Amino acid sequence: MNSDQNTSASPKLTLNLSLKDRNTFGFDACAELAYEITAADQIPGVMNEIAEKQLTWRVLGGGSNVILPKVLPGATLLMNITGQQITTADASSTLIAVGGGVNWHEFVAWTLEEGLPGLENLALIPGTVGAAPIQNIGAYGVEIGEYINSVEVFDVKTKDFVTLTKEACHFAYRDSYFKQNPQRFIVTKVVFRIPRQWQARIHYADLAKQFSGQSSPSPEEIFLAVCKIRTLKLPDPKVIGNAGSFFQNPIVPSEQYETLRQKHPGLVSYPDATGKRKLAAGWLIDQCGFKGQRMGNAGVYEKQALVLVNHGNGIAQDILRLAKCIQDKVQKEFGVSLDIEPNIL
Ligand code: EPU
Repeated sequence: MNSDQNTSASPKLTLNLSLKDRNTFGFDACAELAYEITAADQIPGVMNEIAEKQLTWRVLGGGSNVILPKVLPGATLLMNITGQQITTADASSTLIAVGGGVNWHEFVAWTLEEGLPGLENLALIPGTVGAAPIQNIGAYGVEIGEYINSVEVFDVKTKDFVTLTKEACHFAYRDSYFKQNPQRFIVTKVVFRIPRQWQARIHYADLAKQFSGQSSPSPEEIFLAVCKIRTLKLPDPKVIGNAGSFFQNPIVPSEQYETLRQKHPGLVSYPDATGKRKLAAGWLIDQCGFKGQRMGNAGVYEKQALVLVNHGNGIAQDILRLAKCIQDKVQKEFGVSLDIEPNIL
């Protein structure tokens, strides 16, 4: 279905909506006023209402990258715009327009069914298509920014719908123009450009190991391998609440990296596009002895130290208290500061 065909009846409004099932940490949170957005043209009216009543507001996609308080005051826009459609296909690439509320993993699976490989390394990332460009989701050597043609947004400042080209999105590691300008843009649709020419991208260590001795796996094989690796390494939010990587991998100047490497020969790092060095935060945290540790209801996942988990009945403060403890220790041991990846609402 094409999202343009969605009706633009007023969005459904619910008071005191429980968000327990709409945040992957499983926090017992509640939205004072929840607007279910199913079509882009509902947004200007809702934002006018919000401005008139001087309400605080935020957009919630799949809730896979957020830390929610007990009560979300003011308005919460639940992004539920669906629809995905191939808009143009020529000899070099295919353009696909996708509603901001579409589930990311289901979209990736659909591209493979349609014979449009390219996104398979990004399988099983939780969340929605609309959230993907905001933090430029990435995994196993691929970042989504590479495959984005343009992003359609409502600009809250100018009260206009605008299309930003890939260049205007300023994609960088877990960063974008949208992230740099919080509370300004509401993503309604993402247009992907999938090149016709496909090449397996299996250089990332975990994938290379899966395919050792096999030079040309198919997109479907890569998709299944990524799903397998993620399932083994990352906790399923339905079983144990979490938001994937809790910290970004810190990027440090090359001189600092050299000093650290001499002191800690096992340091895991990757070259960064800007000539600096990206350190594996999971390794730093692991070295500090946090893996599998627990502080009240919050814990560090036993198989991946970069993931903080809610052991049940936890609240935002529990996770943030543990996060602060980790940040302080890593700072003390390595002189490196860790930035929290999920949005604290
Ligand atoms: N490591 C440890 N101990 C740990 C965890 C990791 O020593 O407890 C070491 C591993 O041995 C490995 C290195 O750190 O050599 C990197 O670990 P991993 O391959 O698991 O990747 P990551 O850097 O921890 C990033 C992304 C993930 C993404 C993977 C795979 C960030 C913040 N995280 O994690 O993204 O799936 O690479 O590409 O960039 C997410 O953002 O939610 C997420 C899961």
